[in-house]
Amino acid sequence: MDYLSGFGNHHATEAVAGALPVGRNSPQRVPYGLYAEQLSATAFTAPRQENRRSWLYRMRPSAMHPPFMPYAGQAPLGRPAFEAGAPTPNRLRWNSLPLPLEAADFIDGLVTYASNGDFAAGVGCSLHLYAANRSMVDRAFFSADGEWLIVPQQGRLRIVTEMGVMLIAPLQIALIPRGVRFRVELLDDVARGYACENHGALFRLPDLGPIGSNGLANVRDFEAPVAAYEDVDRPCELVQKYQGRLWSTMLDHSPLDVVAWHGNVAPYLYDLSRFNVIGTVSYDHPDPSIFTVLTSPSDTAGTANLDFVIFPPRWMVAEDTFRPPWFHRNIMSEFMGLITGDYDAKAGGFAPGGASLHNMMSAHGPDVASHDRAVAATLTPHKIEDTMAFMFESRLPFTPTGWAMETPLLQGDYDACWTGFAKAQLPTQGSDA
Ligand SMILES: [Fe+2]
Repeated sequence: MDYLSGFGNHHATEAVAGALPVGRNSPQRVPYGLYAEQLSATAFTAPRQENRRSWLYRMRPSAMHPPFMPYAGQAPLGRPAFEAGAPTPNRLRWNSLPLPLEAADFIDGLVTYASNGDFAAGVGCSLHLYAANRSMVDRAFFSADGEWLIVPQQGRLRIVTEMGVMLIAPLQIALIPRGVRFRVELLDDVARGYACENHGALFRLPDLGPIGSNGLANVRDFEAPVAAYEDVDRPCELVQKYQGRLWSTMLDHSPLDVVAWHGNVAPYLYDLSRFNVIGTVSYDHPDPSIFTVLTSPSDTAGTANLDFVIFPPRWMVAEDTFRPPWFHRNIMSEFMGLITGDYDAKAGGFAPGGASLHNMMSAHGPDVASHDRAVAATLTPHKIEDTMAFMFESRLPFTPTGWAMETPLLQGDYDACWTGFAKAQLPTQGSDA
């Protein structure tokens, strides 16, 4: 399968020779009678360096659809999916999301754990997990509320989008722009993973500052699909997420009928194993921001609406340094997931397909077992292997959904992992008072 290289690059691709107009975006007559349609991911007047749009050349205009009605089919997991709960200052952790017992595709297997900000105002994000056991058939999905970053934990996916087809497996991620129609097919019996819906500024690669012009996630490793289209004339349901609710309409054709496109709005695939991990080679444990893959900035420089941060396999070489993540209280709020292996701050309880939430100013860090092991360890270079945890970190605290607070997956004893730390022993005070 071919891909186009480079995050945010301008791409041009056609599935049929001659389908892409030359010189004009919307000529009076588009080749083959295709319809020209602009997809804007930023306002028309966004500064040039921020401006993102693509031109799609399709068999029918997207505008040709009946009214959307409230989606009736919601899911075993998804029924309460988008209902906000109440804020809580407590640290939360969930066991692995079970695979569905009833038939559920990607849409019906979605459940929302937490959200922040305001999708109408274009800030914050919503954090979903999915668990599915069947492919979407004759239906497609899109979100008007934000771009989707899909992080598979189990099972390979074939994501068929308007702009081409992407195959992703666990340890790879897919980014679907706001509004882009897509269908998720399972390449294995079951699939489970995480999906972050970014309501704010578009994800971009973080600035590298003194790191220089290479490192972390490199532009060239993001791959956009080449144009591919479906010439299908049979009923197809189109489901959209709009202002926190699902809506549905029926088409008499597949909406995935874009024959050619060009522009800098595109779905992307990225393989997390290509991340160039950077860390200390002397002492101390750098802030986890050194592991940022993608960032959605806010209007305050350096204070992200949303960061996607990974904890990949890497060498630990620091001298005289407590090597696991240290105890901390953070002005940012942290939602974590685990794709595979163990996370080096926890000796148990944080499983692949599970999740944890440490909101603004909640105290957290290694559990007792991980702490005690780390302070007793002989500090030689060692490699953390076979692991991939990640974090969605935001300036805005996350509010868990009602579902997330009521599910039996929520661990009632999470605080216990920080009980039992031995009290520090100070020198005996003099008695000269
Ligand atoms: Fe943290």
